[in-house]
Amino acid sequence: MILAANLKTNLTREKTNKYMKGLERFLDESKSAQEVYVFPATSSLDKYTKNVVVGAQNAYPTLNGAFTGEIGLEQLEEFGIKTILIGHSERRHILGETQEILVKKFAFYKEQGFKIIYCVGEPLNIREAGHDVMMNYISAQYEGIDTEYENLIIAYEPVWAIGTGLTPTLEEIENIHKELKKKSPAPILYGGSVKVTNAKDVLALTSVDGVLVGSAALYLDHFCSMIDDAEAIEKIAGEK
Ligand code: 13P
Repeated sequence: MILAANLKTNLTREKTNKYMKGLERFLDESKSAQEVYVFPATSSLDKYTKNVVVGAQNAYPTLNGAFTGEIGLEQLEEFGIKTILIGHSERRHILGETQEILVKKFAFYKEQGFKIIYCVGEPLNIREAGHDVMMNYISAQYEGIDTEYENLIIAYEPVWAIGTGLTPTLEEIENIHKELKKKSPAPILYGGSVKVTNAKDVLALTSVDGVLVGSAALYLDHFCSMIDDAEAIEKIAGEK
């Protein structure tokens, strides 16, 4: 399964370094077979790892140039970064990234062969408007995106579940993922208030291929416990 930690605007370079060392040690010792990703703050990017894939939370669709405050491909290549998050709800809703901008980013980083974790998800008012409105809203977030791209991973993150402690029911997650799987063969992660207390149940759902974790992943032991959960679930499934 895929376990991804989005560290957002948290941890210094020094603390990230410590986090990555601890995570590598855990993966070495546990011999976990899970696919683990970490998305540190831009200022903490580095060539950290062997077991963990380090990705960028954001980058501009350019090699380099005059885009104040942004980084481009050249800055990612310095650290061997080949993975990027695109379409996170905080970039859509707080930073104002439109579908048009996201489509350009997607096309550029796809062209470079990047692994792309592309995020979709609805705000609360859309969810409350009913199932059809919600699915139409999410479908619009697929517009212009190559859903057949071989290095694509989708992350379903309901906006109202991010950082709030609220989550859809397991049944709702299962059903939405099933619908989203009809749109793309890519693996689908669930994100939004995944904690040590619910990770096992979410990961055990058949239509969930992994999790994208924010706040709980800031605690290394919590993130490692989720990796253990995924390992245990795969083991049981393999024994069946
Ligand atoms: P939380 O786990 O803090 O809800 O954040 C989820 C998220 O946005 C991951 O990208």
